[in-house]
This record gives sequence, C-alpha cells and structure tokens, in this order.
Amino acid sequence: MNMQLLYDILAGYGPSGCEGRVRAVIERALEGHVDSLETDVMGNLIAVKKGDGTGRRIMLSSHMDHIGLAVIDADKHGFLRVCNVGGIRAQKLISGHVVFENGVCGVVGADEKVKGDVTVSELYVDIGAQSREEALSMVSIGDMCVMQPRFSRLGEHRIASPAMDDRIACFVQAEVMLSLPEKTRNEIVAVFSVQEEVGLRGATTAAYAVNPDLGIAIDVTGVGDVPKVATKLPVSLGKGAAVKIMDRSLICTPSVVAMMEKLAEERNIPVQREVLPYGGTDAGAIQKTRGGVPSGVVSIPCRYIHSEAETVDLRDVRAAIELVAACVE
Ligand code: CO
Ligand code: ZN
Repeated sequence: MNMQLLYDILAGYGPSGCEGRVRAVIERALEGHVDSLETDVMGNLIAVKKGDGTGRRIMLSSHMDHIGLAVIDADKHGFLRVCNVGGIRAQKLISGHVVFENGVCGVVGADEKVKGDVTVSELYVDIGAQSREEALSMVSIGDMCVMQPRFSRLGEHRIASPAMDDRIACFVQAEVMLSLPEKTRNEIVAVFSVQEEVGLRGATTAAYAVNPDLGIAIDVTGVGDVPKVATKLPVSLGKGAAVKIMDRSLICTPSVVAMMEKLAEERNIPVQREVLPYGGTDAGAIQKTRGGVPSGVVSIPCRYIHSEAETVDLRDVRAAIELVAACVE
C-alpha cells in the first residue's frame, strides 16, 4: 500500500461542495494510469478504464467530501457562529482544532450548558479575532472549516485520522484502479464523488450519467467492538472488509451480496457481514438511478465515525482492496 498517497488523500481540505484539493491529489495519482480522467459539473472526479467490449460497465464510488462547519456570522467579540455541513454531533467537536481553506485556524467552543447535549447552534469557532470586523476580514460568511488533519498510528495495524470517512475508501478505490491489468473485460468507471455527507448528491448525478450495469460503493461502517455501545453492531476492526446487507439508503441487491461473499471465499479474503441501522452511502443513489441498478457496498470498519479520531485497521483496508479488485474483474 502506498502510504504516502493515503496521507495526502487524508490531509486534503475538503468539506462537502469544496472537494477540489482532494480531487487534485487523486487526479495526480491516477494520471497516465487510466484511459480517461474527467471532472463533471458537480465536481465528481470520474476515472475510466475501458474494457475489451465483451464485459459490463461497473461503477465504483467513494466520496471525497467530509463533514464540516459553515460560517453563518460573527458576533461583536469575533466568535464565529456556524451551521453543520453533513451529520455533525456537536459534542464531538468541542475543543477540536479546525482549519479553513485559506489556512485560517480555529478552535471550537460551546455555550455553557447545565443539562443535555450541545447542539451545533450552540457551538462557536474562535479564530483569535477580537471583533466582528476582524473576524470577517479573516474568513467570509459561508466559508467552511474542517477538523485539522492529524494522523496517528495505533499499535501495529491501526491508524486514526479525521476524514477517514471516506478518504480511506478513496484510497482503496485509487489502489484498485492503479493495480488493474493492462487489458480488462469490464469497463470500470471509478467515481470519486462529492457531497455524499449532505445527501449522496454527487453520486446521484454521476450514476445517471455513467449508466452502469453494476454499482459498488466503498465507504466506512460502524463497529460494535468498543466497550459500551447502544446498538451492538456485528462488525469488528481487524476481521476483514464488511459486505453491506443494508443501511438507511439501500438494501443491497442479493445477487451482488452473494457475488461478493463467493469471491471472498474463493480467494480467502476475510469478510464480515454488515447491517447498519443508520447512515447511507453512494450505492443508495446508484441503485435507484434510471430503471434501477444492481448495487452493493464494500465497507471498511471504522471506530468513532464523524470525529477527529476515525480509526481503521490496515488489514481490513487490504481486504477491501482485494475484494473490490475481485469484483471488477
Ligand atoms: Co460520513
Ligand atoms: Zn462516508
């Protein structure tokens, strides 16, 4: 695995709708290794490996965007009030470090509260400004900030970073495209999508345009292997890639699930089944495009999703690369 590429993909600034820097990193990595590489109106990066004409058209999708905060206004003391971009749990952001596209840094504070969880409207971002004027000379209304990149290796196999959702999958998808043989039967269209966190928007238009015979999304999924959890999910870190059965955005096409499990068994790729009672992913958009497309998802188990500490196991990442590669073959 090309760890430098992974670091670069993780570190790119890219809240929903502003994925340009992440796109540039992936574009550079794929240039010369695919038959075409284009950015569509929405900002999706679409990499195509042509087939020999006898196969199917397979669409892969992983999203480049991650969650963030958008500036609504600054108060007279220079604190920024914000709204969420994507599914933010305000409590998890308090005391976190954030960064804007122009490099302005901030830390997240919250109105003091005696009871109950803080909401996003009770958060503020402190960028060191002392007046509204000063604050709005540093950032503009509508500007978005994201959690500052910070990468840790945990033990032998695990890594933690913000934006692991879903940059780890962008990395998996890039590695698959870079490892394809010279000649392939199937046409493989890898979409690095935008605006997933705000409602699968990039994948919706891309799926319509690509018009695939089969859709496979790659994304992170929740786990049940931490000390105390409300819902005991069946997925654990280090036990392989997860084959999604369902989440809130789709019920995976049974034949696609069966194909994935068969390939995993034949090639000794460790997999586990996933049922996620919340969340959604790009396959939900692919499956419902046009007259319907058989769709499934290869997931990477991830702890602490939508926090600064999103943690995955590199053995699962390896398994996901192998499984997606087997599927497109
Ligand atoms: Co997410
Ligand atoms: Zn995701």
